[in-house]
This record gives sequence, structure tokens and C-alpha cells, in this order.
Amino acid sequence: MTEAFDVAVVGGGPGGYVAAIRAAQLGLKTACIESRGSLGGTCLNVGCIPSKALLQSTEAYFHAAHKGKELGLVFKGLDFDLKQIMDRKAKIVKTLTSGIVGLFKKNKVTYLEGWGSFAGPGQLKIVRGEETTQITAKNIIIATGSEPIELSMAPFDEKSIVSSTGALDFESVPKHLVVIGGGVIGLEMGSVWARLGAKVTIVEALASILANMDGDVINTMTKVLKSEGITVKANSRFTALSRSKSGLNIEIEANGAKENLACDKVLVAVGRRAFTKNLNLGAIGLPTETNGKIKVDNHFRTGVPGVFAIGDVIAGAMLAHKAEEEGIACAEIIAGKAGHVNYEAIPNVVYTWPEVASIGRTEEELKSAKVDYKASKFPFSANARAKCIGDTDGFVKLLADARTDRLIGAHIVGPNASELIAELAVAFEYGASSEDVARSVHAHPTLAEAIKEAALGIDRRAIHI
Ligand code: NAI
Repeated sequence: MTEAFDVAVVGGGPGGYVAAIRAAQLGLKTACIESRGSLGGTCLNVGCIPSKALLQSTEAYFHAAHKGKELGLVFKGLDFDLKQIMDRKAKIVKTLTSGIVGLFKKNKVTYLEGWGSFAGPGQLKIVRGEETTQITAKNIIIATGSEPIELSMAPFDEKSIVSSTGALDFESVPKHLVVIGGGVIGLEMGSVWARLGAKVTIVEALASILANMDGDVINTMTKVLKSEGITVKANSRFTALSRSKSGLNIEIEANGAKENLACDKVLVAVGRRAFTKNLNLGAIGLPTETNGKIKVDNHFRTGVPGVFAIGDVIAGAMLAHKAEEEGIACAEIIAGKAGHVNYEAIPNVVYTWPEVASIGRTEEELKSAKVDYKASKFPFSANARAKCIGDTDGFVKLLADARTDRLIGAHIVGPNASELIAELAVAFEYGASSEDVARSVHAHPTLAEAIKEAALGIDRRAIHI
């Protein structure tokens, strides 16, 4: 018999599984369909989580090797064990993905393993091997995520020409890793392998790495990467790839001049595209846009009654936490509640070292929009805790509306920036002014004091600079 659900979510990534749990919490009979054989999507299986596990191991190694002496630590024969690093990563992924199975059981979400596609209005077909089942659902949420963009000149073999997935699984440290694309993935995975001794060259078509970020962030990170031995070739177009007996040859072009880079591994990290293939959207008359995305209104409605879409398949930043918020809001809207996502208050993090975290507008955006603003920057070199930690690269930069003092941009480069940005996310959510943050007591000595000092600096009254 065809089982009937109130809500069926196609895709078990951070958007989909969170939407399913929230829908079930609200008393709706919910199913989540996932084909990967493991819940958690790209983020938990081959994205955020495994990359952060690798970043942690390699960061600890790099710090021991390069900062140990300054801290008074002597390591004799310091080395790493790549197999153990990879085993630890796999174990973390397994624990977290199977944790979602437990959360589904606890919340009574039905987990349907297999490939989900539309069989007609309100109907889904789920194929698993030879087995096909069909369900009906009053509401269907498409949360099928995204996939890496492949370049025809460098098709993925996931061994020597890899996407972010293959870059998590090299069996040995590359001799020379060329990264095409100086975005988030390029910087994070480039850092992992550079810390273990790989020569890393980042090729970026635009004028700088992290091109959409605040100019001060770009300048600092460009210097930091250089000091860590990573070469950045900006304004450089990738034009050809060839294989030879000794490895790969990458041809790039900068200002009309050609250059060849001999390497053994290439990571192509030029962005991701919405994954909406093979869903049989035609069965419900739902079109996709040219980039594969699905158009929705501000209630995640696709225009087909009872069909919603969230996360990487719709417009906006391709971020796990953005998808999660949309999943929660979408489930609440389906349940008749007032679900809402504040797109002005979504933090963005790059897990390099130092880390980068930002929220709101960049100074360049404010200038081009002719917004009257005040800016303040406080360096970690003037922060006591950063000195004790031995990590003084970077700064906190705040941008406030000159008329109302409301915070409109915050950019951090520094130790634990990913955690520090949470204070500013709350401030943005509450529409805080720089004065609100400046008057909040921050424990001493903490890295967070740099945020308070930057807030004081909006009114030119920072104490420690
Ligand atoms: P991205 O969009 O961040 O960066 C891609 C870069 O490649 C851009 O700077 C672009 O100018 C450059 N590029 C494009 N074509 C090129 C070419 N032919 N030659 C040279 N450069 C070229 O994309 P990325 O790094 O692949 O990340 C994909 C998505 O995953 C992003 O939306 C990102 O937000 C998300 N992500 C987020 C993470 C985080 O929040 N920490 C971690 C990893 C991924």
C-alpha cells in the first residue's frame, strides 16, 4: 500500500534533515528520502565536517612545527601519520552521520533510503537497487543540494584531477597541488595540504582570492597565505591541461602571457551548481532556471501547489547554516507558523588559519551603494589574549550606519574568528548599534575584547590602541 505523509523531504543534507526533524516536531507525519546511504549530505559526508577534521589535524601539526619553539615547546622528530589523520576524519563523519539516524528515530521521521523523484502531483517514487516504492505527501520539500562545477578542460577523475571530494582523500601528500579557484574550498583545502608540506599554487581568474569579501580581509589573507608558503596567482585564467609521464601540466594565462605549471594534483574549486537532475520535475510541471536552480517565493513555494524548495537548490549563498535555517522556516510555514530567515544576518566563515568570518556588508559594497558609514578596525596584535595564544595576525573590523549607528558590516580575520562571529550574528539579529556592543561587558582576557574595542573605535574611543 502507498504510504501517505504530511511532509516528504527529498535530500538528507543539512537543509533536508533539519526540515524533516522540525516538521516532525510540529506533529506532521514526515519522511526524508536520501540516496547516499548516509544522512548529512555534502556537508557531513564530503564537505564541512571532513574538511574541518583535516584542518584540525594539520593546524595542530603546523602550529607544533612553527609555533612550538616560541611557546617553549620542544618536539623531537615531530611527524604526522596521514593514515591516522584520515581514519580520524572517517570516524568523525561516521559518528555524526549515524547520529542523524538516531535523531530521526527520536523524532519519528521515516528515513527512506533510495533515489527520490516525482511520479506525479503529491507523489514520489523511491528507487533502491531493484526495489521501487511509492509514497504520497501533501507537502514535498526539494532539498537536493549542489555538486561541484566540472571544467571540460579538466574532468574529475578524483585521483589526480579532483573536486573537493577527492581533495579530502589523497593517499599521500601531493608534491605540487595546483588549485583552480581562490574561493573558500581552494583556500581551505590548499591550507590542509600546504601544512603537510605540499607546494600549493592557487590560480584565480579574478583580481584577488575571496573576491567578494571585504578589501581588508583580502589584503590580510593574501599576505598570510604567502607567509605560509602558498603561491597565489591572481588575474590568471586556466587555459589548458595536459598529462605527461611525470604528471600534469597546467597552462595559465595572465595579461596575455602564458605560463606552465607542472604538478601532480589539480583541485578544481570554481564553485558549485544546484543539483536538480533526475528528479523528474516535468511530472509536476516545475521548471528549473538555466543554472539548475529552482525559483521560490519568500515562503519557499515553487509555484507548484504543495512543492517547496530550500538550500543550495534555491537562490543565495551555498552554506549549510543557511540551508538549515531555511529548512526550519519552511517546515514552520507548512505547519501554519511564521517561519522566517533573516538573510541580512548570515555569517560566512573560511576555516583557514587565521580564520575569516564576516557578516553583513563589505566596505566596498557600502561605498558603491553610497551609504554613509563609519568604520573601525582593531588589530589582534593589540589584544592581550591573542598575544598569550601567540596568534596576533588579523583584526576585527566593524562598519556602522553613520546616521543610526546600527551595525551593517563585521569582518574578522583572526584566531577563532568562526566562534567570535556568533556575537555579531546575535547583534545583527537584534539590530544592535555599535554602542550596544561597546557597552556590553566582555570578559578579560579574551579574543572577544577585540570586538568591543572595534565597537568603541566607531566613536574613536578604543582604549588599547
Ligand atoms: P567559490 O565560489 O567560493 O570560489 C570559486 C572561485 O573560483 C572564484 O573566486 C572564481 O573567481 C574562481 N574561478 C572560477 N572559474 C575559474 C577559472 N576557470 N580559473 C580560475 N579561477 C576560477 O567556490 P568554491 O570555493 O568552489 O566553493 C563552492 C561553494 O561551497 C561556495 O558557495 C562556498 O560558499 C561553499 N563552501 C563553503 C564553505 C564554508 O562555509 N567554510 C567551505 C566550502 C565550501
